[in-house]
Amino acid sequence: MQTRKVSFSRQTTNFYFGATFSDIKNFSSQKTTVLITDENVFAAHKKLFKSWNVIVLDPGEEYKVQATVDSIIQQLIEMKADRTWTLIGVGGGVITDMTGYVASVFLRGLSFGFVPTTLLGMVDAAIGGKNGIDVGLFKNMVGTITQPSFLLYDVSLLKTLPDNEWYNGFAEIIKHAAIMDAAMFKELEKRSVSFFQKGKPALQALVQRNALLKAKVVKEDEFEKGRRRLLNFGHTLGHALEKQCELMHGEAVAIGMAFAAKLSGDLIGFKGADRLVRLIEQYHLPVSTHYDKEKAFHLLVSDKKKEGEQINFILLEKLGKAVSKKISLPEIYKAI
Ligand code: GLY
Repeated sequence: MQTRKVSFSRQTTNFYFGATFSDIKNFSSQKTTVLITDENVFAAHKKLFKSWNVIVLDPGEEYKVQATVDSIIQQLIEMKADRTWTLIGVGGGVITDMTGYVASVFLRGLSFGFVPTTLLGMVDAAIGGKNGIDVGLFKNMVGTITQPSFLLYDVSLLKTLPDNEWYNGFAEIIKHAAIMDAAMFKELEKRSVSFFQKGKPALQALVQRNALLKAKVVKEDEFEKGRRRLLNFGHTLGHALEKQCELMHGEAVAIGMAFAAKLSGDLIGFKGADRLVRLIEQYHLPVSTHYDKEKAFHLLVSDKKKEGEQINFILLEKLGKAVSKKISLPEIYKAI
């Protein structure tokens, strides 16, 4: 196991890479820890949860809502959890988001950690401290920015992951490559999903590289005033399509990236859109879909990235370098 510490404004987070699930016992007491997971993860890894306090939730983004938060809090009260307890989210982004959110507000804040069990969670969703819930069609409309005290990486948990969940994670990996790591972009072009599924050292290295890339951007701009916005590449249209078109997050982001790459070509002369589209397709992700333009525009302008009559939109200058540009709402309407 390799520990990398990243210091954020109010919390240092330990990243335990190359770990195994059972290592949790070494830094969290079973008596005063609650593992929060969902039915799918619980069923796939039942043995791991033995002798821990566990809260098992219904799986899926539709449960990332206030009613689920209330039910977790009710269960914590029944367990007599106090401020000395620790919550550990074991699962994908829905679980880590809700665990972080509950831990930030229950008794005005408990310590918490994450064991991401999806590729998307490992490279993106569990990192960054933004924890929250959806409200209606609006993703992540309510939440906090509070950092976990640790993230534990056990890539053997990915063995039970269906292929579409692997593709989902690769969308965010491709995003990191496109916005800030040209060398990784080239490496991904030479590889495939099955290469990483079969090769544990290559997978571990890829996961660690992406987790630390994201952590570095967050550390530089934890409260998203500038550089962190670059991580929204592909997410502005992506979020507007995700629920409307019932897409997985990675699929929506992949379509959003293809759109943003084309827009980058039109607005700032970006030349790499074809290469990005090819890479997205190479990792089994979509680059377009049918959608209701009016609905998408309505969601897009209600997004958190809107400032007055403009949207902060992330474009690519070249592969490996993104920029944030303010784009007027009529311009966006025309483009979608
Ligand atoms: N929880 C994901 C993020 O903070 O970006």
